[in-house]
Amino acid sequence: MTLSFDSRKMADALYTGQFCPMFIDGAFVPAQSGEVLDVVDPASGHQLATVPRGGAADVDVAVAAARRAFEGEWSKFTPYDRQEILLRIADLMEKNWDMLCVSDTVDMGLPITRTLGNKRRVIGMLRFYAGQATALHGDYIENSVSQSMISYTTREPVGVVGAIIPWNAPIAASIWKIAPALATGCTVVLKPSEDAPLTPLLIAKLMQEAGVPDGVVNVVTGTGAEAGARLAAHPDVNKVVFTGSTATGQTIARAGVDNLKRITLELGGKSPMIICKDADIAKAIPVAAMAVYAHSGQICIAGSRLFVAREIQDEFIQGLSEFAKSLKIGHGLDADTDLGPLINAQQTSKVEAYIASGQEEGARLITGGGRPSGDPYDGGNFLRPAIFADVRDDMKIAREEIFGPVVSVLPFDTLDEVTARANATQYGLAAGIFTRDLGTAHKMTKRIKAGSVWVNMYHAIDPAVPFGGLKMSGYGKEGGVEHLQAYLDTKAVWIQTE
Ligand code: NAI
Ligand code: MG
Repeated sequence: MTLSFDSRKMADALYTGQFCPMFIDGAFVPAQSGEVLDVVDPASGHQLATVPRGGAADVDVAVAAARRAFEGEWSKFTPYDRQEILLRIADLMEKNWDMLCVSDTVDMGLPITRTLGNKRRVIGMLRFYAGQATALHGDYIENSVSQSMISYTTREPVGVVGAIIPWNAPIAASIWKIAPALATGCTVVLKPSEDAPLTPLLIAKLMQEAGVPDGVVNVVTGTGAEAGARLAAHPDVNKVVFTGSTATGQTIARAGVDNLKRITLELGGKSPMIICKDADIAKAIPVAAMAVYAHSGQICIAGSRLFVAREIQDEFIQGLSEFAKSLKIGHGLDADTDLGPLINAQQTSKVEAYIASGQEEGARLITGGGRPSGDPYDGGNFLRPAIFADVRDDMKIAREEIFGPVVSVLPFDTLDEVTARANATQYGLAAGIFTRDLGTAHKMTKRIKAGSVWVNMYHAIDPAVPFGGLKMSGYGKEGGVEHLQAYLDTKAVWIQTE
């Protein structure tokens, strides 16, 4: 792919080490404490900017602004008004798409071709929710006991929403949380990850330009332990939507107990990818590889347990290994980069510790796992994509979410066996199946315990299709018409007519 613009030049102009303030009540402000957090490019270690280290006091101001807006000016907006705003945000983001992608790429490492490629999905998401804004309705309910009573329901916005997102897809995650809030008439305080806070601040500016009133969308930067924890526990926040690790999701669920917040949790996974013996192997190899290597493995739906029918295992591993070796590792701003860096040194060491544990437990490292060295890799958090064979289900690498470019190949003999093994995990986010047999596809999709099951494909996400996990992968759906219901409360109205 060739880019229609100079990505490095754009990145250098966008971030010069400057202070990027956060967005509260329509103003770009520092933290009350004056403290800042450094923001670095994970591909080079180069400092891009600083952002405010927002704390509890800043969250309190943002929540108060969101409450005022919710009860004041924003409550007077009709569904048409909110729809127009969402459409204007979509237009502005579309116009500024290259800049937003460059920002995400330098901030969290994802190759620019991948960020640019999300355009239709993200902009489409905004337009989807714009449509939903004018499709909200309650029900008229025929009264069972009396003809002189009428009952109907109305759907009302839950109020102030706290949105907490991870580093791995800041543009899409921000929009997936904010758009349904705007469609339903809620207000939002968004807390981006301390590892990738920059693009949400650009999005906030575009939202202001699109006419979002002050206080309706606020972005508070800061750490999870400080700003995140206050938002999750805040007594005047009605709902929290969270994407991130299962451990933090549990902390957030506990923090919401005191005022019984509505909570949506999109958490971790250890998703199975099942390659049946009748699969189209040539088609399955790149999909299975990218099911885990996309975002260098830092993706909740990573298909990190690769079950392959024993008969085709050797051929499959051979092809997978060639594919993994062909992937170009590099700076995300280069158009020919397939895999960017991991987010930080800590995540890289964590993934390396998993690779070491796989070897200690007797799995066979077929390829990858090491750090590439020399220019341009020194200073960045790069890892070569790894494949483990001879993996047993009880090994740590087959049980825990690694969040790095590591796949475990697990051979299987029968469909019953692989179904039971695929389901033998605390997680239930996603699954993939490759087969040419329609009966197998239907039987397996029914029996696999996961929120999304892809057949002969992986990764597809659409704003019209619900997404979200089972078991320890969380609860609540994003996408689909169900999504908006999570931002609404139902009120029953009764009228005596005689
Ligand atoms: P995290 O789940 O702790 O962070 C996600 C977001 O939650 C960030 O904005 C963070 O600031 C915030 N947060 C952290 N602690 C909080 C608290 N007590 N209250 C409220 N908000 C809080 O993930 P983190 O620290 O970025 O990475 C830790 C590990 O989690 C990674 O090594 C990775 O394995 C896994 N992870 C999984 C994700 C997934 O989508 N499945 C996403 C991000 C991380
Ligand atoms: Mg954390």
